[in-house]
Amino acid sequence: MTELLPLIDKLTRAHSLSAEEYERLITGRNKETASLLREEADRVRRSIYGNTVFTRGLIEISSYCRNDCYYCGIRCGNPKAERYRLRPEEILDCCKEGYSLGFRTFVLQGGEDPWFDDVVLCGLLREIKAQFPDCAITLSLGERSRRSYELLFEAGADRYLLRHETANKQHYEQLHPERMSFERRMECLFALKEIGYQVGCGFMVGSPYQTAAHLAQDLKFIEQFRPQMCGIGPFIPHRDTPFGGKSAGSVELTCYLLSILRLIQPNLLLPATTALGTLAPNGRELGIQSGANVVMPNLSPVSVRKKYSLYDNKICTGEESAQCRDCLAQRMNAVGYRLVVDRGDPKTE
Ligand code: SAM
Ligand code: FES
Repeated sequence: MTELLPLIDKLTRAHSLSAEEYERLITGRNKETASLLREEADRVRRSIYGNTVFTRGLIEISSYCRNDCYYCGIRCGNPKAERYRLRPEEILDCCKEGYSLGFRTFVLQGGEDPWFDDVVLCGLLREIKAQFPDCAITLSLGERSRRSYELLFEAGADRYLLRHETANKQHYEQLHPERMSFERRMECLFALKEIGYQVGCGFMVGSPYQTAAHLAQDLKFIEQFRPQMCGIGPFIPHRDTPFGGKSAGSVELTCYLLSILRLIQPNLLLPATTALGTLAPNGRELGIQSGANVVMPNLSPVSVRKKYSLYDNKICTGEESAQCRDCLAQRMNAVGYRLVVDRGDPKTE
């Protein structure tokens, strides 16, 4: 512990460590370092965001995907995955319900489904913006061409979430089939940033073959890329994927990394993810207490939720949107935070 204290101090003051120092902070961690980092992270977060937690309405628009990521339950190579695709009118209905529940950001997420081409998506984005002009729209639809990202931005998309998954090329290749490329993923992220999106990257904690050195590289990448958002959650195996027999990541390490990320970039938008809530009943509360400041309750129609099965035993697949929102509001209140009706843009430090 004592040898890690100067590192925590340096991170808090300089918002940066070397890759080797990040690795030591991870491998040498214990209860004391975790609670010290958590306290610092919470203090820093409160100085910018108070006790507010931003909320985003997640709409899972399609479970069709042309990609075959080894970890993901909706990969095209899983013949058991049940496929659905929401029609634009259904997506607009989800937004309408979400708006009345106090959501001011909608996240449209889905597999890489070619049916959602630029014409369909741009039409949808314009309609959402016309009906809900005070709302932000986040897209999380994977890799597309630069031209497509530009068109979607012009049509009203404000933010884009594309996890880098790992900042190590060899590790990337262990998680994805040959036809996917690390360079391409990075190109997409840099293009999104240049176009003007608020960008979110991120990675799974405890993904197969991941080492502390890989995580240190992830932290270094985030330090340099400076995204507006960063989505991290534990890897959870899905039984019908090549990684079905691998073990899940941990809530403890995910929370530890959330605290480190808060100290790297104090104003970062950091979600306490559904995967965190799936591994532990109080996982999202722990995430918030460790430095996260965003939750993303599900706004998808209940009829399709079980089909958007990225990993086993995903929570919140039977609840109505209002129940989900109320449940999360109560959970946050119970640990001293409050959900707000707000677009939830990053605040300046
Ligand atoms: N297709 C879009 C993309 O690739 O960005 C959005 C959907 S994709 C399913 C969203 C994220 O889910 C991925 O970036 C990945 O990190 C996460 N994910 C997929 N399978 C997972 C698993 N088994 N456990 C935890 N997270 C998983
Ligand atoms: Fe969905 Fe609790 S957040 S049921």
